[in-house]
Amino acid sequence: MIHVPVLLQEVVRFLDPKAGKVIIDATAGAGGHTEEFLRRGAQVLAIDRDPEAIKYLKKSYGSQVINHKLVLAQGNFANIGEIAQKKGFSRVDGILFDLGISSDQLADAKRGFAFAKVGPLDMRMDPNLEVTAYDLVNNFDERRLYEIFSTYGQEKFSRAIARAICRARQIAPINSTQRLANIIREVYGKKNIRTKLDCATKSFLALRIVVNSELINLENALPQTIEILKKGGRLAIVSFHSLEDGLVKRFFKQEKQLLVLTKKPVTPGASEILKNPRSRSAKLRVAEKI
Ligand SMILES: C[S@@+](CC[C@H](N)C(=O)[O-])C[C@H]1O[C@@H](n2cnc3c(N)ncnc32)[C@H](O)[C@@H]1O
Repeated sequence: MIHVPVLLQEVVRFLDPKAGKVIIDATAGAGGHTEEFLRRGAQVLAIDRDPEAIKYLKKSYGSQVINHKLVLAQGNFANIGEIAQKKGFSRVDGILFDLGISSDQLADAKRGFAFAKVGPLDMRMDPNLEVTAYDLVNNFDERRLYEIFSTYGQEKFSRAIARAICRARQIAPINSTQRLANIIREVYGKKNIRTKLDCATKSFLALRIVVNSELINLENALPQTIEILKKGGRLAIVSFHSLEDGLVKRFFKQEKQLLVLTKKPVTPGASEILKNPRSRSAKLRVAEKI
């Protein structure tokens, strides 16, 4: 599946990739943004914690890797300072974070991200992580599950879903995306609620955030970017979740060395949302190091 890069033109407008510029793509995924940075002549360090993404980038952009226009790094952006230093990118013109998962990860049933596919309850972006969604769903007590669904999913039926999971797993461990999704759908069904989104959307998102420590990683990464950016360098962050966006907004406000360039977050227009529904909740915030 091709990953359509979100808010590509807007990211390009702010980061202005061109020959002589050095950019870190901290969430390279299928290389949608990286490809455009390279096409415009910039040198790119592409980081992703998913080894499958790095393998794919190596295969797709091999010649750019050979001529050092593209440098690849498998790792967690929570260690962006160390990764950048190791790869010789310790002073850069731009850094992009395009948070969340890629279409490739979602499309691959065995990764366990998709409630619409039958797969194991996994959800790890990096297969070396020790805890999977299966572990959370089958071992956490009702209260912790409730907290996960309400905090990270803002799921209004968190309590009922947590209870239904605990009841269902007494019969047999919940080991597939399909069984979990059906348990959640049944909760909605009993309440006679119809929704536009699949009823499992918010709960799956919440589990994914916890399995991959997504908010903690972002919180750890942000302060490190200041060290890596040159004066005048820009930090662009595309987020899809209000907790992520809040974190970015607060960081931009607090950090004295940053000038905020987006008073309000930039969001996709109707035509982008029509072409790429995944973009519908995207918010881009950009700041410049002064
Ligand atoms: C939305 S996709 C990026 C898509 C990419 N911009 C494109 O256009 O093809 C997000 C990517 O970030 C990666 N990712 C998420 N959290 C990460 C982290 N903490 N460190 C490194 N990569 C991460 C995921 O594995 C995924 O491939």
